[in-house]
Amino acid sequence: MRKKIVAGNWKMNNDLQEGLQLTSEIVHMVKDEVNDEVTVILATPFVHLSGVSRLLDGATNIFLGAQNCNEHVSGAYTGEVSAAMLKSVQAEYVILGHSERREYFNETNELLTKKVNTALAHGLKPIFCCGESLEIRENDTHFDFVCQQLTESLFHLNEEEITGIVIAYEPIWAIGTGKTATAGQAQEMHEVLRNHLAGKFGREIAEGLSILYGGSAKPANAGELFAGKDVDGGLIGGASLKSRDFVDIVKSFQ
Ligand code: 13P
Repeated sequence: MRKKIVAGNWKMNNDLQEGLQLTSEIVHMVKDEVNDEVTVILATPFVHLSGVSRLLDGATNIFLGAQNCNEHVSGAYTGEVSAAMLKSVQAEYVILGHSERREYFNETNELLTKKVNTALAHGLKPIFCCGESLEIRENDTHFDFVCQQLTESLFHLNEEEITGIVIAYEPIWAIGTGKTATAGQAQEMHEVLRNHLAGKFGREIAEGLSILYGGSAKPANAGELFAGKDVDGGLIGGASLKSRDFVDIVKSFQ
């Protein structure tokens, strides 16, 4: 059975104190209200990682994630953070290829191949983001576009390596816009992606990969979105900044 995952992507929000407060609230609520069936991930800014890591000590189903890492192992890359540094603060996951990084920081499928390799080589699990713009959807080329993102950044991996990847489908037109994909649109794309992965890695491996949906997910729509048979959870932006909303989204699996 594949993992059900709800990951919060805090993006560039919260100072350290606010982030630690949010984490404490989530830890308590998850302990009291959530069973171990769901894997919860907090993807915080770099500055928060080590402090949040300490608060997660002892929480059995909440894991730490970063929002990016550099493709190089180490060296003279001022301002950058390496995969080994993330491991050293007990991060287990790293978001790679978020559309905001693709758009504002020029991250290409080719660069992401390198980041994926470096993350995997250091024992991090990439949460690999893909998704189309509104223009691409309106041109009706969204399935090909998103499949190609996977092909170009992940299809060099071997069978063992691909099992270390979590996929997150985030249609750009749904991110931060309040305009969620319908449950049908999410399921349809997830099924296409799973079939695409099966074509390369085999059905058994593809059936074991978790594919998350992201884009204006909130407590009111999470249950419906997660009901899709190929939707294995969510990557949550805005609603992950409020402990009650975030934990309610996690609970929509129960
Ligand atoms: P929102 O949930 O704020 O739309 O953001 C989604 C997202 O980009 C998560 O990575």
